[in-house]
Amino acid sequence: MSKTTWWQKAVFYQIYPRSFADGNGDGIGDLDGMIAKLDYLKWLGVDAVWLSPHFPSPQVDCGYDISDYLSVAPEYGTMEKFQLFLDGLHLRGMRLILDLVLNHTSDQHPWFVESRSSRNHPKRDWYVWLPGKADGPPNDWFSTFGGSAWTFDVVSGEYYYHYFFKEQPDLNWHNPEVKAAMLDVVRYWCKLGVDGFRLDAVGTIYETPGYPNQGTGVTLNDNYREYRQATNKKETDAVTEKWKRMFRYQHDLPGIHDLMRELRTVIDEFPDKVLVGETDQLSFYGNGRDELHLNFNFPLMHTQRITPQWVRENQEGRLANLPPGAWPCNTLGNHDVGRMRSEFGDGENDERIGRVNLALILTLWGTPFLYNGEEIGMTNHLGIRPEQFRDPLSRNALDLELNLIGSKQEEAQKFALLTGRDKTRTPMQWSADPNAGFCPAEIEPWLPVQDNFSHGVNVHDQMNDPHSLLNFYQKMITLRKGFPALQEGVFEVIDQDNPYVFTFLRKTDTQTCLVALNMCAETKVTKVGDRSNFRSVFSTHHPIGKRIFQSVELLPFEILIGVHFEQQTTNL
Ligand code: GLC
Ligand code: CA
Repeated sequence: MSKTTWWQKAVFYQIYPRSFADGNGDGIGDLDGMIAKLDYLKWLGVDAVWLSPHFPSPQVDCGYDISDYLSVAPEYGTMEKFQLFLDGLHLRGMRLILDLVLNHTSDQHPWFVESRSSRNHPKRDWYVWLPGKADGPPNDWFSTFGGSAWTFDVVSGEYYYHYFFKEQPDLNWHNPEVKAAMLDVVRYWCKLGVDGFRLDAVGTIYETPGYPNQGTGVTLNDNYREYRQATNKKETDAVTEKWKRMFRYQHDLPGIHDLMRELRTVIDEFPDKVLVGETDQLSFYGNGRDELHLNFNFPLMHTQRITPQWVRENQEGRLANLPPGAWPCNTLGNHDVGRMRSEFGDGENDERIGRVNLALILTLWGTPFLYNGEEIGMTNHLGIRPEQFRDPLSRNALDLELNLIGSKQEEAQKFALLTGRDKTRTPMQWSADPNAGFCPAEIEPWLPVQDNFSHGVNVHDQMNDPHSLLNFYQKMITLRKGFPALQEGVFEVIDQDNPYVFTFLRKTDTQTCLVALNMCAETKVTKVGDRSNFRSVFSTHHPIGKRIFQSVELLPFEILIGVHFEQQTTNL
């Protein structure tokens, strides 16, 4: 096996800056807050941080609408503070990757302000402008966030294209000046010492030339109505298929791969950087060495329950199609989807299921990404009132519920929160103090704090409880570090057909680990074959050091890790 690099072995932790820690007490997370939590990150054991956008932004899309790529949002701090945070991470042996939003800028970015100022402005062609048809926009494309993908600009008399909100105009990547400007942004942050980037919505960068109508005749409202009426998975899948057809001209076009290769060349000007794409398309790995280093395994999270069969099928499908040399990347949570604990729980065993799912992410082959707050078991906040909504998707969904579906207010609010992303972005719960210790008692945080902070769902209380979820996270991350096979080893499923227990090996030339995860609420047996020279190095339920024989009995939701004992060398 060739030598692995830092980002293959690292555990990544996503910080959502607005919600992580508030240093100056104004109810908004910031760099001072993050700096104060550096030792916490080190204690937790994460190796690298992915920071969601920290750039100046009108905050229409919570920072994913950037108005200056070379600076820091004033409410988060200054460039000096940014450098302190970066240096603080590096000093402690951790890395930092930033969010790189290439597809679009904010409509307040000076580039767009100039571009829209007149049809003859030299920056006009930096964005996608077209004249309308007699009866409206240039074509029938939708924005994925609602409404037409085209917005009319009264001053210059043309339409501009936006895959996301109308405040997020798409850049025209066919224009070499755009490409040069953005690649300079990449170089700027690399020179400051950041360790790489997470590439936002990378599949949306190019559109089909000629802008042909998608022609399905289906509207987004029709689609939403059908989605709400669907009663089973087959019907929901059919709605998703229709949706994909509507958007087929607007993403994952072949030209993107040339651009990714070019970006990789720029990144390779600097040693040891990493690019991770917000895409589940394996094509973005290129030939395994020339496009992105990592692409998220999003399909893994598209289920209500993580079962052995689900994981096996997912792994089979993805790993077999990875180009040689490519490295997988697994996650079950981020700022766009529901909280892990709420999404995959069964209402009765959520905590134990959460532990099994964490163990899965940390032991599968690939780089794990964790989202802030998962380590204390934060849940979806479904009590946010409409006047407190920050994500326009929550507001749009409320409108659709009330006016299209005809739901009652309470039901409408619930669906608005489920559709929108505010539920996952509430302030990090640091203690049982007012406002969960995120900001001072008398200050209203930018999004309301989830009530369960006073019932143990906070960092302070869990740090003091050796049996807490937080301490379990810390322990599992440390364990992973201790066994090179868990970080670098090849992956081999055993006990293939077991419906309850997911069992697999991770193997390097010098070490073999066996992982068995009982994903159900009953005691179950896994058949591990001839493994008599394995013994357990971790179990959630039993003392360690036990030999692992042909058949292993696991208690409900037990996590068992064993190692071939002649090879029991650890990094610990
Ligand atoms: C990505 C981000 C999401 C954002 C969108 C548009 O999907 O993760 O939060 O709204 O891109 O930038
Ligand atoms: Ca603040």
